[in-house]
Amino acid sequence: MKMLSRKTSCDSHGQDSSYFLGWQEYEKNPYDAVQNPSGIIQMGLAENQLSFDLLESWIAENPDAVGLKRNGESIFKELALFQDYHGLPAFKNELVDFMSKIRRNKVKFDPKKLVLNAGATSANETLMFCLADPGDAFLLPVPYYPGFDRDLKWRTGVEIVPIQCSSSNGFKITAPALEEAYMQAQNLGLKVKGVLITNPSNPLGTTTTRSELNDLIDFIAAKGIHMVCDEIYSGTVFDSSSFVSITEALTDRKLEYTQVWNRIHIVYSLSKDLGLPGFRVGMIYSNNETVVSAAIKMSSFGLVSSQTQYLLSRILSDKKFTSKYLKTNQKRLRKRKELLVSGLKNADIKCLKSNAGLFVWVDMRHLLISDTFEAEKELWKRILFEVGLNVSPGSSCHCSEPGWFRMCFANMSVETLKIAMQRIKAFTDYVSSASDKRKHLALVCNSKTRSLAKWVCQLASSDRERDR
Ligand SMILES: Cc1ncc(COP(=O)(O)O)c(C=O)c1O
Repeated sequence: MKMLSRKTSCDSHGQDSSYFLGWQEYEKNPYDAVQNPSGIIQMGLAENQLSFDLLESWIAENPDAVGLKRNGESIFKELALFQDYHGLPAFKNELVDFMSKIRRNKVKFDPKKLVLNAGATSANETLMFCLADPGDAFLLPVPYYPGFDRDLKWRTGVEIVPIQCSSSNGFKITAPALEEAYMQAQNLGLKVKGVLITNPSNPLGTTTTRSELNDLIDFIAAKGIHMVCDEIYSGTVFDSSSFVSITEALTDRKLEYTQVWNRIHIVYSLSKDLGLPGFRVGMIYSNNETVVSAAIKMSSFGLVSSQTQYLLSRILSDKKFTSKYLKTNQKRLRKRKELLVSGLKNADIKCLKSNAGLFVWVDMRHLLISDTFEAEKELWKRILFEVGLNVSPGSSCHCSEPGWFRMCFANMSVETLKIAMQRIKAFTDYVSSASDKRKHLALVCNSKTRSLAKWVCQLASSDRERDR
């Protein structure tokens, strides 16, 4: 071990968080309706599989795009040799148009200010390298996307200081909470370089309100710091009129070409809106020329393959298709979310009211033995090993209140989601039927055996009966 670098052995990657541990458990025993009906259902993965049919029919109708042809002529050699880290101009033009379309054409983007990266993961890390030195801090509202510990901190040495948000106001970002986080960072001897938000929020599934955005703008203006807006879920907003992008908020306040304008940086990706995380297409959009030029140089470490750029530039150039795709996808996501919310309601479980994303933020505080993170972990283990659902506990998102969980709904079929809801209903019925709820919650907990409880197997077999 001594021969290896400190980075190799440091634990700030966050791999040991329950977010990633749940995935590992799922991998060992994945649910399959036929092969493994009592396996674990993956509800911890923010993947969008609801609109593949649309993309697949487009590809079937446009074989030239996949065949790497332009006007019937092969461009294989051209693409195979292309290695300009500025990216294919045609692709960047289509991307900025797509970003505008998602924002209802209220704002325009300039392809020269766009930097391509291998996913939003790479884009967020690159921005940290551009904006902060090791030991500097970024303020993040909690709960936040568990991957940020890896993406923002691990290789860059940047610190994250939480902006405390609470269930009392639906986890909204407030001006006092921003000031408090800033003071906390200073007390820790950290220099604050910026704030990073996700809008819409992962894990809340809500859009940031105009008043929150205004508070954030005022805050970063007063402190002279940066703001990164990860808008990776912008195309998933079910009621798209409620999404206010940071660009729109700034434009409406006539803040274009001011110092604040130069300190705001947007992250985007096609992983969620188009459901293509495997294609690794992410980007930074910044009005700051120095940041753009540094980020372009850094993008050498995580370029997007020219083959992928070409295929996607062809798909995005079909404006009729993209309009239909966005509309249909949003409709399907909304319907799916409603199915999950009503299934949970049936099990007496409430969620934070949401309007975006591929997940809901679920309130299971009433199922905790005590109001502690230990109790949350116990409940999480039971849900994982006994109920057979991998959900992400709030603690993995650094939530400050125990008992909240993120549940994803777009990475599975309707049938699987229904089974997940039956399992959770059976679990809550079981808990509430117990005369001494606390005793029961503690008694049945037997996560060490890693076996699924009886009701899961019963349900799975009764589903098979019904299917026949
Ligand atoms: C808020 C947020 N940012 C970034 C990412 C990473 O996305 P990508 O697949 O584009 O790297 C995710 C993925 O879940 C996310 O939720």
